[in-house]
Parts: sequence; C-alpha cells; structure tokens
Amino acid sequence: MSNLEELQRRHAAAEAGGGPERQERQHRDGKLSARERIDLLLDEGSFEETGKLVRHRCHDFGMEAQTIDGDGFVTGYGTVHGRLVYVFAQDFTVFGGSLSESNAQKICQLMDMALKNGAPLIGLNDSGGARIQEGVLSLAGYTDIFLRNTLASGVVPQISAVMGPCAGGAVYSPAITDFVFMVDKTSYMFVTGPDVIKTVTHEDVTKEDLGGAMAHNATSGVAHFLAHDDADCCARIRELLRYLPQNNVDPVPPVACGDPWDREDSSLDGLVPAESNMPYDMKDVIRRVVDDGEFLEVHEHYAQNIVVGFARMEGRSVGIVGNNPAVLAGCLDINSSLKGARFVRFCDAFGIPILTFEDVPGFLPGTEQEWGGIIKHGAKLLYAYAEATVPKVTVITRKAYGGAYCVMGSKHLRTDVNFAWPTAEIAVMGAEGAVNILYRREITDEAARAAKIAEYKERFANPFVAAERGFVDDVIEPRTTRRRVIRALRMLENKVDTMPKKKHGNIPL
Ligand code: HXC
Repeated sequence: MSNLEELQRRHAAAEAGGGPERQERQHRDGKLSARERIDLLLDEGSFEETGKLVRHRCHDFGMEAQTIDGDGFVTGYGTVHGRLVYVFAQDFTVFGGSLSESNAQKICQLMDMALKNGAPLIGLNDSGGARIQEGVLSLAGYTDIFLRNTLASGVVPQISAVMGPCAGGAVYSPAITDFVFMVDKTSYMFVTGPDVIKTVTHEDVTKEDLGGAMAHNATSGVAHFLAHDDADCCARIRELLRYLPQNNVDPVPPVACGDPWDREDSSLDGLVPAESNMPYDMKDVIRRVVDDGEFLEVHEHYAQNIVVGFARMEGRSVGIVGNNPAVLAGCLDINSSLKGARFVRFCDAFGIPILTFEDVPGFLPGTEQEWGGIIKHGAKLLYAYAEATVPKVTVITRKAYGGAYCVMGSKHLRTDVNFAWPTAEIAVMGAEGAVNILYRREITDEAARAAKIAEYKERFANPFVAAERGFVDDVIEPRTTRRRVIRALRMLENKVDTMPKKKHGNIPL
C-alpha cells in the first residue's frame, strides 16, 4: 500500500469513528455524530481538522488491539459568521468519547492556539470522562485541560455544549467555561451517576432528574441554555457568538441596525402599575428599549427573579441585567445574586457595556437564605458591579430599596449614568416596614399608622431625593428611555477606567 493509500485509509478510519453500529445507536438515541455537529456549528466548508491521525498509546486491557485514528476526538478550527473559532467534539462512539492522554494533548494544543490567536473555544461534549483504561494518564490529561480553561478564562470566550451523557472531567471542564448549553432529553451532567448514588446514599434518582437538561437549567444553574436537539444547540451557539467579541481586546463587531436610535415607545409610560405591589414583566421593558425587540436571554430557566442576557443598542452588544417583579417581586436571593454576578463579570471581562433595569424590593428574608449564605452571595453581586469598569448605565423603573439600591448598579459603584423613571421609589425600605420600625411604640391606631405611611411615601417613594443629591443623573420619561440610554452609551464609547494594581481581588466565594 502506498503512503497515499495509507493516508486515505487512516482518514476513512478516523471518519468512521466507532463503526456503523455505534453510529447508528448514536442516531437512534436522538444524537448527531461529532462530525455532523461540527458541520452544523461552523460556516459551511470552513472546518480544518487537526490531529486526525493521532492514536492512543495504551497497552493495557487489550487496548493495543483497538486503535482508532483521531482517538475519538474531532478537533480543529473554522469560522462562525466568518470569524475564527476553535472547536473540539467528542465522539461517543469511540470508547464513550472518553479522554485519553493522546486526545487530551490534541485539545491542549487547540486551547493554546485559541489563546495565542485570540479566538473563542467551543467544546461539544459527549463523553464518559477520563478513559478508565488509562488511569492517571487520562486524569493528567483532564487536569491539563482544566488549567488551560482557567488560563483562558476572561481572555477568549469559552462555550461548552453538553450533548450526551457527561461524567467526571467531561463536566468539570464545561463548568469552568463561560456558557454551558444542554440538549433536552439527550444530555446529562453529573459528577457521579445514579448507580453510585444508590450505593452511597441509598437515594433513588433517575438520570434525567439527577442531571438532565432541565435539572441543570432550572435547578442547579450549571447550564445556561436549553436546546431542543443537537441542530438547535448548534444554531443557538452561533447566535450567541454574534453578541461576543473574539477576545478581551477586540470589540464586538457591530450589526447593521434598522431600528431608529431615537424611537420612542409610549407604552412604556404606563407599563409600571400604579400599585407598587403589582407585578409586571421586566422583559417587556427590555424588549421595548433594545434594537428590534431582540433579547438573547441567558439562564432563562434559573433564578427568574433576575433577568440577564444580551441585546443590542444601535447595533452594538450590551449585557442586560434586570430585576423581574413578575417573579418573587423581583427580590434578590442567593441564586439571583450568583446569576447576576457571573453575568456582570463576563460582560466586564469582555468589554461589553452593562445596562441595568432596576425594580427590587430588597433581599429575600428568612432562615433558608441567611443560613444559605445570602450575605456572602449577595456580596458577590455587589463586588461584581463595583469591579466592572465597562460602560455602565442603570435605569430605576420602580423600587430601589435598601442594600439592593446599592448593589444594582448604583452611582456609588461607579456606574456612569443613572436614570430613574418618575415611578421610582428610592428608599431604605418600603413605607410600611419603615413606619413599623420608626414608630413601633408611638402608633396605637390604624389611622395614625396610615398617616405615617402616607408621609413616608410622600417623602421617599419618589426619585427626586436621589436626583437632588446627584445619585440619579436625571428623571426621564419612560417613553424616551431608548434614546437616553443610547446617548449615554455613545458618550461612554471610549471610557477608560482601571482597578488598583493587585494580583487579583478576593471575591467572597
Ligand atoms: C472508557 C468508556 C468510558 C470511560 C464509557 N465508556 N465511559 N470507556 N472510559 N470513562 C465506553 C463503554 O465501555 C461503552 O463501550 C461505551 O463507552 C458506551 O458506554 P455505555 O455505558 O454503553 O453508554 P451509556 O449506557 O449511555 O452510559 C454512558 C455513561 C457510562 C453514563 C457515560 O458509560 C458511564 O457511567 N461511564 C463511566 C463514567 C465515569 O465514571 N467516568 C470516569 C470519571 S472520572 P462499548 O465498547 O460497550 O461500546 C474523571 C476524572 C476527572 O473523569 C476528574 C474531575 C475532577
């Protein structure tokens, strides 16, 4: 056989993966192959494969008789919307997509290139974790990857899709990355599966309940996006990439925008209910303000009392954070603080301006929250806002009470432009709570209590005291929000702000 024929044979072997039977099982299980996924993710015909001829070097457990070219990981680079990305996809048909010393080396080479060339890294995970036959060599391989995930954090965007049963290292690497996608009904993430749980804790739990897509999108918050199937997952990753820069130095390329920058929306004037305890959906506010009503929500199913995601203003990417009065009155609790903090830090790391819509009655009270550490978790959100040096604009739509006023992008945390709607109530707490504390002993009848509540409301439940102090730059008519925010963002386009020299801060983890 000539070398050319040998090359063709090896390429064909790499493309065949674990063979037709296992490929068929993959399709039967509702999953695409590693190569099909890469084809859907990248611009057509743009994929350049690396390490296609790599083989494992294991001689234990009869492995020497089972070598497959490429060793079950498809790695390489290509483009998404014409921009360079690096990608790896685990092929579950080859030793369950498990990580060997050799394919770890392929991934590490790819990660090093992504860092040097400043382009996003995307991992399509479908893997049983460390290759059991290789022992510590595969553990070493995973740890080499974890190190690179950490070094690349904040330098290039890292996106993980979990597209099959993923265990061990195959979940820890995604956990370090910026965004995790899961596919409904075909993907699972756990450190340890149901069988081990049964042995150790005698707990009975299904794979789906333990680590299915909804478990991690809605309950644990490990996953940020839920996809219906593999094709939907690849399409959504492409959509997310449109909002992101290539790295922490380059700006996000602007998108052509047909939505007038000075468009007014009169429905915003009546959107906040007159009764301050009535809910409304902050997503309605967001969609009315941003370009063409397009909002890519992150963590849609998790801690819904806060809303985070990407949108554009005048064609430029912005990160949106909004308290949502439609869920738990929009209060801040442990999960919403974590969700908000992580998102703010991502935007800050990658130079994406942060636009905050605030309506928050305070932190959620109770033993569950206190014992769960709301103090340190709430502090993370505070810390993230304080640390962020990107352009920051805040719009207070209604309540800005207590610590939550301080946390949610207040002027005092070096937010650049702060607006309030006329419906804003900026105070230490709601009028009833305040009166109960201030006049606990003096007030004996309901009429006197009502009078004091009215007095407190009159004095503090408005935006003007804060505006008089300059903590709010202007009280604006809601209908004009889009143009006021756009003008602020234009003004802030070349903002430079810095942190004191330090190795790194010590965010209260
Ligand atoms: C080698 C593996 C493998 C592994 C699966 N396979 N996992 N081979 N190393 N880690 C092989 C199987 O032997 C099988 O081979 C094929 O892949 C498909 O696996 P099935 O079990 O038939 O598939 P399924 O029923 O869908 O179950 C998938 C699974 C399960 C949930 C992932 O295979 C599993 O539990 N695997 C082990 C998970 C694990 O404990 N990994 C080590 C984690 S430790 P054949 O030849 O039959 O097709 C780790 C260290 C990192 O990763 C540390 C992090 C901090």
